[in-house]
Amino acid sequence: MTPIALDPARVAGWRAAWDAMMLGFVPGLPALERVIATAVEAVRGAPPARVLDLGGGPGVFAERMAGRWPDAAVTLLDVDPVLLEVARAGLPPEIGVVRADLTSPAWPAAAGGGYDLVTVVMTVHYLTPAVIRSLYAAARDALAPGGLLVVADLMPDDGLPEVMRVLDPGPGEAAAELAWAQWWSGLTAVPEIVGLLAARADLFRDRPPAGFTADLGWHAAVARAAGFREAGALWREGRHAALAARR
Ligand SMILES: C[S@@+](CC[C@H](N)C(=O)[O-])C[C@H]1O[C@@H](n2cnc3c(N)ncnc32)[C@H](O)[C@@H]1O
Repeated sequence: MTPIALDPARVAGWRAAWDAMMLGFVPGLPALERVIATAVEAVRGAPPARVLDLGGGPGVFAERMAGRWPDAAVTLLDVDPVLLEVARAGLPPEIGVVRADLTSPAWPAAAGGGYDLVTVVMTVHYLTPAVIRSLYAAARDALAPGGLLVVADLMPDDGLPEVMRVLDPGPGEAAAELAWAQWWSGLTAVPEIVGLLAARADLFRDRPPAGFTADLGWHAAVARAAGFREAGALWREGRHAALAARR
Protein backbone atom coordinates (compact mmCIF):
# COMPACT_ATOMS: atom_id res chain seq x y z
CA MET A 1 0.00 0.00 0.00
CA THR A 2 1.38 3.47 -0.91
CA PRO A 3 2.11 5.48 2.26
CA ILE A 4 0.01 8.61 2.60
CA ALA A 5 1.32 11.93 3.87
CA LEU A 6 0.02 12.70 7.36
CA ASP A 7 0.80 15.80 9.38
CA PRO A 8 3.38 14.72 12.01
CA ALA A 9 1.88 16.93 14.74
CA ARG A 10 -1.57 15.40 14.22
CA VAL A 11 -0.10 11.89 14.21
CA ALA A 12 1.68 12.63 17.49
CA GLY A 13 -1.61 13.87 18.95
CA TRP A 14 -3.50 10.75 17.84
CA ARG A 15 -0.84 8.48 19.29
CA ALA A 16 -0.75 10.37 22.61
CA ALA A 17 -4.57 10.22 22.82
CA TRP A 18 -4.44 6.48 22.07
CA ASP A 19 -1.91 5.99 24.85
CA ALA A 20 -4.11 7.87 27.34
CA MET A 21 -7.13 5.85 26.21
CA MET A 22 -5.38 2.50 26.71
CA LEU A 23 -4.34 3.69 30.18
CA GLY A 24 -8.03 4.39 30.86
CA PHE A 25 -8.86 0.78 29.98
CA VAL A 26 -5.89 -0.66 31.88
CA PRO A 27 -4.47 1.80 34.46
CA GLY A 28 -1.74 -0.71 35.39
CA LEU A 29 -0.14 -0.74 31.92
CA PRO A 30 3.07 1.05 33.06
CA ALA A 31 3.53 -1.55 35.80
CA LEU A 32 2.86 -4.32 33.29
CA GLU A 33 5.51 -2.94 30.95
CA ARG A 34 8.06 -2.88 33.79
CA VAL A 35 7.19 -6.46 34.76
CA ILE A 36 7.55 -7.64 31.15
CA ALA A 37 10.98 -5.97 30.92
CA THR A 38 12.15 -7.50 34.20
CA ALA A 39 10.90 -10.96 33.19
CA VAL A 40 12.46 -11.06 29.73
CA GLU A 41 15.79 -9.71 30.96
CA ALA A 42 15.80 -12.27 33.79
CA VAL A 43 15.09 -15.31 31.60
CA ARG A 44 17.51 -14.19 28.86
CA GLY A 45 20.17 -12.83 31.20
CA ALA A 46 20.41 -9.78 28.91
CA PRO A 47 18.09 -7.33 27.15
CA PRO A 48 16.14 -8.89 24.26
CA ALA A 49 17.70 -8.58 20.80
CA ARG A 50 14.49 -9.17 18.83
CA VAL A 51 10.99 -8.15 19.92
CA LEU A 52 7.64 -8.67 18.15
CA ASP A 53 4.45 -6.85 19.19
CA LEU A 54 1.37 -8.59 17.75
CA GLY A 55 -1.74 -6.43 17.36
CA GLY A 56 0.48 -3.46 18.10
CA GLY A 57 -1.96 -0.79 16.86
CA PRO A 58 -0.40 2.66 16.47
CA GLY A 59 2.79 1.45 18.13
CA VAL A 60 2.94 3.26 21.45
CA PHE A 61 4.05 0.11 23.28
CA ALA A 62 6.47 -0.92 20.51
CA GLU A 63 8.06 2.53 20.66
CA ARG A 64 8.49 2.34 24.44
CA MET A 65 10.11 -1.10 24.14
CA ALA A 66 12.46 0.26 21.47
CA GLY A 67 13.31 3.15 23.82
CA ARG A 68 13.96 0.75 26.67
CA TRP A 69 16.18 -1.50 24.55
CA PRO A 70 17.85 0.75 21.93
CA ASP A 71 19.88 -2.14 20.45
CA ALA A 72 16.86 -4.39 19.95
CA ALA A 73 15.14 -4.92 16.60
CA VAL A 74 11.46 -4.22 17.34
CA THR A 75 8.69 -5.21 14.93
CA LEU A 76 4.99 -4.38 15.16
CA LEU A 77 2.35 -6.46 13.38
CA ASP A 78 -1.27 -5.47 12.90
CA VAL A 79 -4.08 -5.81 10.37
CA ASP A 80 -5.90 -2.49 10.78
CA PRO A 81 -5.07 -0.21 7.82
CA VAL A 82 -5.75 2.97 9.82
CA LEU A 83 -3.65 2.02 12.83
CA LEU A 84 -0.85 0.75 10.60
CA GLU A 85 -0.71 4.08 8.79
CA VAL A 86 -0.64 5.98 12.08
CA ALA A 87 2.11 3.63 13.30
CA ARG A 88 4.18 4.06 10.12
CA ALA A 89 3.82 7.84 10.24
CA GLY A 90 4.63 8.11 13.95
CA LEU A 91 7.30 5.51 14.59
CA PRO A 92 11.02 5.91 13.94
CA PRO A 93 12.00 4.01 10.76
CA GLU A 94 14.05 1.41 12.61
CA ILE A 95 10.85 -0.09 14.10
CA GLY A 96 9.45 -2.58 11.60
CA VAL A 97 5.74 -2.30 10.76
CA VAL A 98 4.18 -5.41 9.21
CA ARG A 99 0.68 -5.78 7.87
CA ALA A 100 -0.65 -9.27 8.56
CA ASP A 101 -3.80 -10.89 9.88
CA LEU A 102 -3.55 -13.05 13.00
CA THR A 103 -6.52 -15.07 11.74
CA SER A 104 -4.50 -16.10 8.66
CA PRO A 105 -1.94 -18.94 8.61
CA ALA A 106 0.30 -16.56 6.63
CA TRP A 107 1.17 -14.19 9.50
CA PRO A 108 4.14 -16.16 10.92
CA ALA A 109 5.96 -15.98 7.57
CA ALA A 110 5.34 -12.22 7.46
CA ALA A 111 6.62 -11.78 11.03
CA GLY A 112 9.78 -13.89 10.78
CA GLY A 113 11.37 -15.65 13.76
CA GLY A 114 14.14 -15.79 16.33
CA TYR A 115 12.36 -13.42 18.73
CA ASP A 116 13.32 -13.18 22.41
CA LEU A 117 10.00 -11.56 23.31
CA VAL A 118 6.58 -11.67 21.65
CA THR A 119 3.90 -9.43 23.19
CA VAL A 120 0.14 -9.40 22.55
CA VAL A 121 -1.52 -6.57 24.50
CA MET A 122 -5.31 -6.12 24.58
CA THR A 123 -5.63 -7.99 21.29
CA VAL A 124 -6.67 -11.62 21.90
CA HIS A 125 -10.21 -10.54 22.81
CA TYR A 126 -10.60 -9.83 19.06
CA LEU A 127 -9.89 -13.49 18.28
CA THR A 128 -11.73 -16.80 18.62
CA PRO A 129 -10.50 -19.65 20.85
CA ALA A 130 -9.40 -21.63 17.77
CA VAL A 131 -7.39 -18.66 16.43
CA ILE A 132 -5.80 -18.12 19.86
CA ARG A 133 -4.70 -21.78 19.91
CA SER A 134 -3.04 -21.37 16.49
CA LEU A 135 -1.58 -18.02 17.58
CA TYR A 136 0.14 -19.54 20.62
CA ALA A 137 1.59 -22.38 18.52
CA ALA A 138 2.87 -19.94 15.89
CA ALA A 139 4.23 -17.58 18.57
CA ARG A 140 6.15 -20.47 20.09
CA ASP A 141 7.74 -21.19 16.71
CA ALA A 142 8.54 -17.49 16.23
CA LEU A 143 10.47 -17.41 19.53
CA ALA A 144 14.11 -18.33 20.01
CA PRO A 145 14.68 -21.16 22.54
CA GLY A 146 14.01 -19.73 26.03
CA GLY A 147 12.08 -16.80 24.54
CA LEU A 148 8.99 -15.36 26.23
CA LEU A 149 5.42 -14.86 25.02
CA VAL A 150 3.42 -12.32 27.05
CA VAL A 151 -0.32 -12.00 26.47
CA ALA A 152 -2.22 -9.30 28.40
CA ASP A 153 -5.99 -8.99 28.20
CA LEU A 154 -9.20 -9.48 30.14
CA MET A 155 -8.50 -12.69 32.07
CA PRO A 156 -10.62 -13.20 35.19
CA ASP A 157 -8.82 -14.86 38.10
CA ASP A 158 -9.65 -18.58 38.10
CA GLY A 159 -7.70 -18.97 41.35
CA LEU A 160 -10.53 -17.26 43.27
CA PRO A 161 -14.07 -18.45 44.04
CA GLU A 162 -16.42 -17.09 41.36
CA VAL A 163 -18.14 -14.62 43.71
CA MET A 164 -14.80 -12.97 44.52
CA ARG A 165 -13.59 -12.55 40.94
CA VAL A 166 -13.39 -9.03 39.57
CA LEU A 167 -15.60 -9.07 36.47
CA ASP A 168 -16.95 -5.52 36.44
CA PRO A 169 -15.21 -2.78 34.47
CA GLY A 170 -12.93 -0.49 36.47
CA PRO A 171 -14.09 3.10 37.22
CA GLY A 172 -12.19 4.61 34.28
CA GLU A 173 -13.47 2.19 31.68
CA ALA A 174 -16.66 4.04 30.74
CA ALA A 175 -14.57 7.16 30.07
CA ALA A 176 -12.12 5.06 28.05
CA GLU A 177 -14.99 3.64 25.96
CA LEU A 178 -16.13 7.21 25.24
CA ALA A 179 -12.56 8.24 24.39
CA TRP A 180 -12.35 5.22 22.03
CA ALA A 181 -15.51 6.31 20.18
CA GLN A 182 -14.25 9.91 20.00
CA TRP A 183 -10.80 8.82 18.80
CA TRP A 184 -12.27 6.94 15.87
CA SER A 185 -14.96 9.51 15.02
CA GLY A 186 -12.29 12.27 15.06
CA LEU A 187 -10.53 10.54 12.17
CA THR A 188 -13.60 10.72 9.94
CA ALA A 189 -12.85 14.45 9.51
CA VAL A 190 -9.35 13.75 8.12
CA PRO A 191 -9.53 13.49 4.29
CA GLU A 192 -6.29 11.43 4.04
CA ILE A 193 -7.73 8.81 6.41
CA VAL A 194 -11.26 8.44 5.02
CA GLY A 195 -10.29 5.79 2.46
CA LEU A 196 -8.47 3.78 5.13
CA LEU A 197 -11.51 3.98 7.42
CA ALA A 198 -13.61 2.47 4.63
CA ALA A 199 -11.05 -0.32 4.15
CA ARG A 200 -11.11 -0.91 7.93
CA ALA A 201 -14.90 -1.13 7.95
CA ASP A 202 -14.76 -3.71 5.13
CA LEU A 203 -12.12 -5.70 6.97
CA PHE A 204 -13.93 -5.94 10.30
CA ARG A 205 -17.51 -6.12 8.93
CA ASP A 206 -17.87 -9.92 9.01
CA ARG A 207 -15.69 -10.65 12.03
CA PRO A 208 -17.07 -11.74 15.40
CA PRO A 209 -17.41 -8.85 17.92
CA ALA A 210 -14.28 -8.20 19.99
CA GLY A 211 -15.56 -9.87 23.12
CA PHE A 212 -13.76 -13.15 23.78
CA THR A 213 -12.71 -13.62 27.40
CA ALA A 214 -11.20 -16.64 29.13
CA ASP A 215 -9.57 -16.97 32.53
CA LEU A 216 -5.84 -17.10 32.92
CA GLY A 217 -5.85 -20.86 33.53
CA TRP A 218 -7.37 -21.37 30.08
CA HIS A 219 -4.65 -19.29 28.43
CA ALA A 220 -1.92 -21.11 30.39
CA ALA A 221 -3.32 -24.51 29.38
CA VAL A 222 -3.47 -23.45 25.71
CA ALA A 223 0.13 -22.23 25.89
CA ARG A 224 1.32 -25.52 27.42
CA ALA A 225 -0.60 -27.48 24.78
CA ALA A 226 1.16 -25.34 22.14
CA GLY A 227 4.50 -26.61 23.44
CA PHE A 228 5.61 -23.91 25.89
CA ARG A 229 7.72 -25.32 28.73
CA GLU A 230 6.23 -23.03 31.39
CA ALA A 231 3.16 -20.81 31.45
CA GLY A 232 1.53 -18.82 34.24
CA ALA A 233 0.45 -15.44 35.59
CA LEU A 234 2.99 -12.65 35.20
CA TRP A 235 0.81 -9.74 36.33
CA ARG A 236 -2.73 -8.95 37.44
CA GLU A 237 -4.84 -5.84 37.99
CA GLY A 238 -8.51 -6.53 38.66
CA ARG A 239 -9.93 -8.44 35.72
CA HIS A 240 -6.90 -7.69 33.54
CA ALA A 241 -3.95 -10.05 33.66
CA ALA A 242 -0.90 -11.11 31.69
CA LEU A 243 0.14 -14.63 30.86
CA ALA A 244 3.85 -15.35 30.42
CA ALA A 245 4.86 -18.49 28.57
CA ARG A 246 8.47 -19.59 28.06
CA ARG A 247 9.58 -21.61 25.07
C1 LIG B 1 -7.30 -2.62 21.65
S1 LIG B 1 -6.14 -2.58 20.36
C2 LIG B 1 -4.61 -2.73 21.23
C3 LIG B 1 -3.45 -2.18 20.45
C4 LIG B 1 -2.10 -2.22 21.13
N1 LIG B 1 -1.72 -3.56 21.48
C5 LIG B 1 -2.08 -1.33 22.35
O1 LIG B 1 -2.06 -1.87 23.48
O2 LIG B 1 -2.08 -0.10 22.20
C6 LIG B 1 -6.32 -4.16 19.58
C7 LIG B 1 -5.42 -4.32 18.38
O3 LIG B 1 -5.57 -5.65 17.84
C8 LIG B 1 -5.50 -5.54 16.44
N2 LIG B 1 -6.12 -6.73 15.83
C9 LIG B 1 -7.39 -7.18 15.98
N3 LIG B 1 -7.60 -8.27 15.22
C10 LIG B 1 -6.41 -8.52 14.59
C11 LIG B 1 -6.00 -9.50 13.65
N4 LIG B 1 -6.82 -10.45 13.23
N5 LIG B 1 -4.73 -9.46 13.20
C12 LIG B 1 -3.87 -8.48 13.62
N6 LIG B 1 -4.21 -7.53 14.50
C13 LIG B 1 -5.47 -7.54 14.98
C14 LIG B 1 -6.30 -4.28 16.17
O4 LIG B 1 -6.11 -3.81 14.86
C15 LIG B 1 -5.76 -3.36 17.25
O5 LIG B 1 -4.59 -2.71 16.85
